[in-house]
Amino acid sequence: MKLVFATNNLNKLKEVQEMLPESIELLSLKDIGCFEDIEETATTLEGNAQIKANHITNKYKYNCFADDTGLEVMALNGEPGVYSARYAGEPANAEKNMQKLLQNLNSNTKRDAHFKTSICLNLDGKQYLFNGICKGGILTEKKGEKGFGYDPIFQPEGYEKSFAEMSSEEKNKISHRGLAIKKLIDFLKTY
Ligand code: IMP
Repeated sequence: MKLVFATNNLNKLKEVQEMLPESIELLSLKDIGCFEDIEETATTLEGNAQIKANHITNKYKYNCFADDTGLEVMALNGEPGVYSARYAGEPANAEKNMQKLLQNLNSNTKRDAHFKTSICLNLDGKQYLFNGICKGGILTEKKGEKGFGYDPIFQPEGYEKSFAEMSSEEKNKISHRGLAIKKLIDFLKTY
């Protein structure tokens, strides 16, 4: 079966392909000739994942899944959430996003937060949603050099280091995206 992963990130695609049974062939957006920007206009992560998956299924007639991720900080009522990529404005800039978040939290001692990934799968006329959550807290300053996005200021629960101090293997085992993808893969294996 051919299945589109609505991404052009070949690292993400390869990682998921390696976890799937050989009977499922993953295709990227480029593979199916989709070069247009799919506007993420929903106010929830689930909604944006759904917009992307539906766009591909409706226009290109493929089974497809799409993901969307955000960092939700409790003391900021869930901000930056669905706006994580462009929290400090356009063009997206990870450094500015982190500085804005640290400023907004200021000296707040309540720093609980979680990353959440939503995956929407359109398969043979039905729709399925999978969520992965990684709980933790926002540090008072950046720590570590690895990873991307908010990794240097996010410390997962039960660990004394930030995401940016972890190898990608270590991070993937506990991360929001890793957990959501595992749910998707477990489902596809039994389908
Ligand atoms: P996307 O939906 O995977 O493109 O993620 C949206 C935004 O959330 C990214 O641009 C990052 O700012 C942030 N983000 C997503 N996943 C992670 C992560 O694993 N670590 C740090 N930041 C992330």
